[in-house]
Amino acid sequence: MRTDAAYELLRQFTSPIVAVTSAWQGRTNGMILDSAVRASISPHVPRLSVYVHEWHFSHDLIWNSGKFCLHLLHQGQLDLVYRLGFKSGQDRDKLADIPHTLGQLGLPVLADRVAAFELEVVNTMDTGYSTLFLGHVRAVHPGEEKEILTPPWFRANMPKEWEPEWLANYRKAQDSIDGHTQIEDRRWTGPRVS
Ligand SMILES: Cc1cc2nc3c(=O)[nH]c(=O)nc-3n(C[C@H](O)[C@H](O)[C@H](O)COP(=O)(O)O)c2cc1C
Repeated sequence: MRTDAAYELLRQFTSPIVAVTSAWQGRTNGMILDSAVRASISPHVPRLSVYVHEWHFSHDLIWNSGKFCLHLLHQGQLDLVYRLGFKSGQDRDKLADIPHTLGQLGLPVLADRVAAFELEVVNTMDTGYSTLFLGHVRAVHPGEEKEILTPPWFRANMPKEWEPEWLANYRKAQDSIDGHTQIEDRRWTGPRVS
């Protein structure tokens, strides 16, 4: 990865590390994010937003289905971060060996979680390299009350042998972003009919 003094300060704005699952036309998938933000302060309007890079398989599934399930994770789930966040699910079923059920919106809800939220997309914004999905919470699935997994904790505690792959993935994504800063007038207009 590449960094500098300003980027180290920007890194303070990451969210907890969360798992985002998705489903579309019989395929399911999961990825890892640290870009989830509460997007409303009203309990009557429960909303969250996430930034998903456009080259991820999850991006296609969320864009086409108009829904995603966000999971708060705990510190005992480093292995899940590796399984969902280091390789794409484009040509493998990443959830095959990860216990889960289907929730109210038909989305994979992971059994091991601090909490899970099923959301419907209500709007999007193109950044050039990613889409900001604004989601409205339609179902909440509480889990175990444990210490939340944060990026600083992940960086300090991930097994040393994962680091080269993590840094290489990071660098690859940074290079892709640098070449894709042209913002398009592209707005999500509703789920695609399957
Ligand atoms: C700690 C961590 C944080 C990440 N944060 C993001 C993020 O905010 N947005 C994003 O698009 N990808 C993020 N990723 C990368 C994706 O999780 C990863 O590339 C994943 O393999 C994509 O899977 P998919 O192609 O199956 O959707 C993160 C990965 C890790 C390990």
